[in-house]
Amino acid sequence: MKVEIVLHRDGQTEVVEYDYQKREPREKPMALDVLLQAQATSMPDLAFRYGCRARNCGVCTIDINDKPRIACRARVRDGDKLSPCATLPVLSDLVVRRDGIARQMQGRLPSGGGGNDLNVEAPDAYHDLTACIECYACLDNCPMHARNFGDALPETVAPEDMPDASAGYRWGNPFSLLKLQRIRLDPVTSVADKAAALENALELGLDACVDCPGCKCGVGIDLKGQVVKELLDATDLTS
Ligand code: SF4
Ligand code: SF4
Ligand code: FES
Repeated sequence: MKVEIVLHRDGQTEVVEYDYQKREPREKPMALDVLLQAQATSMPDLAFRYGCRARNCGVCTIDINDKPRIACRARVRDGDKLSPCATLPVLSDLVVRRDGIARQMQGRLPSGGGGNDLNVEAPDAYHDLTACIECYACLDNCPMHARNFGDALPETVAPEDMPDASAGYRWGNPFSLLKLQRIRLDPVTSVADKAAALENALELGLDACVDCPGCKCGVGIDLKGQVVKELLDATDLTS
């Protein structure tokens, strides 16, 4: 089974065809199986990330045929193209820079961390949002996130025009909105911190959601209904 693997090295892009050897004729390998075999055989310096191999850690996300997929849970077919997530800057091969998103949230979380307390029951909606594995698949097609790169994909932006990820991206994304909505639902968050979470959502560009058809989560969280709508309804952006 042949797949294309898009490599990024020293500012150059190269597409390499890899012939995956099935372990048994009916095997339908996951993208991560393909990458692991390629690295173990003909491409020893192939760079990609993975952790749990069980859709828990979220770090293995890549693009398959230009759409974000969780590599340890996404089956590949003959002729598929594996490339780094187009929504974040590439470091090497299939490894992208993730820290600009996490840094964006610094100073935007309650000082106590907003963590729950076993004595206070959180609503079901809070627990629904804890299913997020921080895979960043939801950044795909997000106009708010694209503002960070001049409304373009990072791969089309010249290095000198790239925003500084070390400072955290200026504009938000579905994941950052989910984190903020989770703070608003947490029963131990103070009234002031709930208000601050909404202010942060606005500051990160919640207005971009008003005319947007919505975002899609890699693990099936209802971002449109349980995050974006909830936040918009708490503002006067749609009135
Ligand atoms: S609804 Fe908002 S967060 Fe979701 S993709 Fe659109 S702009 Fe991004
Ligand atoms: S909201 Fe969904 S797609 Fe976005 S980071 Fe969390 S799990 Fe991944
Ligand atoms: S390796 Fe952890 S989610 Fe894929």
